[in-house]
This record gives sequence, C-alpha cells and structure tokens, in this order.
Amino acid sequence: MVKIAPSLLTADFAYIGDTVKMLDESGADWIHCDVMDNVFVPNMSFGQPMIQAIRRITSKPLDVHLMLIDPMKYIREFADSGADLITVHAESPSSVHLQRVIASIKQCGKKAGVAINPGTHPDAIEFVYEDIDLVLVMSVNPGYGAQSFIPQTLRKIEYVADRAARLGVPVEIEVDGGVNLENYRSIRDAGATVLVAGHAVVDAEDPAGVIEALRS
Ligand code: DX5
Ligand code: ZN
Repeated sequence: MVKIAPSLLTADFAYIGDTVKMLDESGADWIHCDVMDNVFVPNMSFGQPMIQAIRRITSKPLDVHLMLIDPMKYIREFADSGADLITVHAESPSSVHLQRVIASIKQCGKKAGVAINPGTHPDAIEFVYEDIDLVLVMSVNPGYGAQSFIPQTLRKIEYVADRAARLGVPVEIEVDGGVNLENYRSIRDAGATVLVAGHAVVDAEDPAGVIEALRS
C-alpha cells in the first residue's frame, strides 16, 4: 500500500506541535520535514532544533529531506536530532562522492534516500540503487510549498520504477511536490510508493480525509 508523508513546509510554525499531532492522529505514515539552507534552494525553512522538537511529540518515522549545499556536514546532527530517514540531493556539491554521503547516513544507523530534481536525468543514480532505501523524485523545483506538479515527472517515476524492478532492489519511490487529489492516481500508477503532500493535506479542511483518499 502506498505511504503518505505529509510535508510541514506550509504549516503555521506557531502551531507546529498541534499540526504534527493532528497528522499523527490522521493516519500519516511518515512526517516529511523539509530542511532548506537558502543556498541550494532559494528559501530557508528550519533545521535541527525543529527536528528535535518534532521528535519529542511523535513516534512516526521522520522523513528528513535535506535541501542543502553541503549535506555531508550535517548528517550526524540530523541523525542525532531524531531523523529516521535522511535524503540528500544528487545535485548537492558534496554529493559528488554520493556513495560516501550515503555510507555516512548508514553509519549513523539511518535509512538513506537520494533526491533528484526535475531537470536531473535519473541515470545520475544508476549506480547507487543497491546502496539506498529510497529514491525521491522531485516533481517541482524544490524551495517552496504549494507549487504545481511538473507532468514530465510521470515518465521519470516510470523510469525509476523500471530500473529498480530490473535491478531487483526494494527501494521506495517517493514523489514530492504538487501532489493532490487530482493527480495522485497517475503518480501511483507510474510507480510511486510514497506520496509527499504538503499544501493538499496541511492546508485542507479535512486533512485526515485527504490522507485517506490519497491512500485509497
Ligand atoms: C519542496 C519540498 C516539499 C514540498 C511539498 O521544496 O521539498 O516537500 O513543499 O509540498 P507541496 O505538496 O505543497 O508541494
Ligand atoms: Zn520535500
């Protein structure tokens, strides 16, 4: 069954504890935490203190998406803050030695993911499938919540799902950006196993109903 990972990015940070508890009780599978440094992406969000605070109030897996120019530098800190799964971007300069970055996540005892931006060819991750737990296919250019899904992403999801199946590796295929009740079926049909949804869930009148519908 597909997993639903609501993103906190568009939440009101004054009430972040209430939002996390609400998502926890609404059947979210993972909580997706978007960490931005205003260098890799043109926006800043939150860092380790927020992950620690969220960790204190939920036992759901924390899916930490690092949009950082130098994720290598912060892996230990995010692991110690309570992340369960740490995803780095293939495009980050410190990912030039991608296996080394993945290994450092694994050495912290955490699951490892690699994200690829909409303009990045999925062959960039061809030789790390065996090393990772998750591929994050970005379906918007990262930096902001509530953007529109880029339709060509569907054939990239199919491409990644096909490669993973041919290689026989049990990676999750997570799709992040612009996922909503209109497009989730085509995203799942393309091969997604984890749907990130920020605006569509957190800003909805009935977040639990949206989570249920996305999973149905
Ligand atoms: C984009 C982030 C997100 C995204 C999801 O930079 O990685 O996780 O904001 O939010 P929605 O679903 O609002 O696009
Ligand atoms: Zn994200």
